[in-house]
Amino acid sequence: MSRTPPYAAELRAALSHAVRGVDERELARATEALVARYRSVAPASAPILASRVHVAAYAAYRMPATHAALSRVLGYVADRGVAPRTLLDLGGGTGAAAWAAAGAFPSIQAITVLDQVEDALVLGRELVAHASAPALTDASFLRAVAGAWPDVEADLVTVSYVLSELDETAQAGLVSDAMRRGRAVVVVEPGTPDGYGRVLRVRDAFIGAGWTLVGPCPHVTECPLVQGDWCHFAARVNRSAEHRRLKGAELSYEDEKFSWVAAAAPGTLEPQASPGRILRHPLKRKGFVEFQVCRPDGTAGREVVSKKAGERYRAARDAEWGDPLP
Ligand SMILES: C[S@@+](CC[C@H](N)C(=O)[O-])C[C@H]1O[C@@H](n2cnc3c(N)ncnc32)[C@H](O)[C@@H]1O
Repeated sequence: MSRTPPYAAELRAALSHAVRGVDERELARATEALVARYRSVAPASAPILASRVHVAAYAAYRMPATHAALSRVLGYVADRGVAPRTLLDLGGGTGAAAWAAAGAFPSIQAITVLDQVEDALVLGRELVAHASAPALTDASFLRAVAGAWPDVEADLVTVSYVLSELDETAQAGLVSDAMRRGRAVVVVEPGTPDGYGRVLRVRDAFIGAGWTLVGPCPHVTECPLVQGDWCHFAARVNRSAEHRRLKGAELSYEDEKFSWVAAAAPGTLEPQASPGRILRHPLKRKGFVEFQVCRPDGTAGREVVSKKAGERYRAARDAEWGDPLP
């Protein structure tokens, strides 16, 4: 969880530059309002990012975390052999997925971010102006509303932290819009029971359409997690002094919990045996590492890798919650 994603420092510098002119009390008030709004999971009847200050607050307090979660997810997707040249980010807001994609995929050349909120797109453009990756500085941030996305196609479509703002019908519509436009689709949601529920419905849509699951699930049978449990992961985010002040927080880090699912259109990925997926922090003991995993046979449970396993044991010592089982 302590891996720092590529471009995290650059993004942080760009964020701190972008919010410099905004009144700190207004920013803190807008942050409080957003925290309260995102706690409730009712679909939004009007844009939640209602003003420039709300957008700045979102970027300052949420973007380092959504960027960290997306960097983890896109890193796994890259490891599975997905190497997109083009990215389309639906409901992309201030561009967290664009930054994460630039870090995860050396192949990326063109990025399009679509969102309904003009102020978010303006801030997104301001942020990438400070980036070093050409794919970021050249990224297009365009206004569009779900249900009326332009006909842009892309190797990869991302939908991150958007579904909770839509009702169930609109969520399904957004996912099929993403599948129509992309050769691979990644959906990320908060790592709550609710977010997991939405991710499960997306997973069903992928499987129903014959798409290949890229992750996190190593199988296409029913999710084995029992009632009361939910599949989620965590990415550690270091908090800047500004970030701590904004959130009234003392700890120098936070753990962003997220749920995700990714899939590729039929015929676009080389078939590959799926390893298990680590579902909890591994317990690293003397001479062995104990994991809770989701297995390729559709079951979930305990796996132990002992010192006798040699190379595999060394990989197990480095493995983290969310990684494939070595
Ligand atoms: C919580 S933010 C997530 C932003 C970004 N994807 C991220 O991961 O940081 C949700 C975004 O979805 C956008 N959104 C919500 N409903 C939308 C709609 N109907 N059409 C277009 N964008 C929408 C919002 O404007 C906002 O920027």
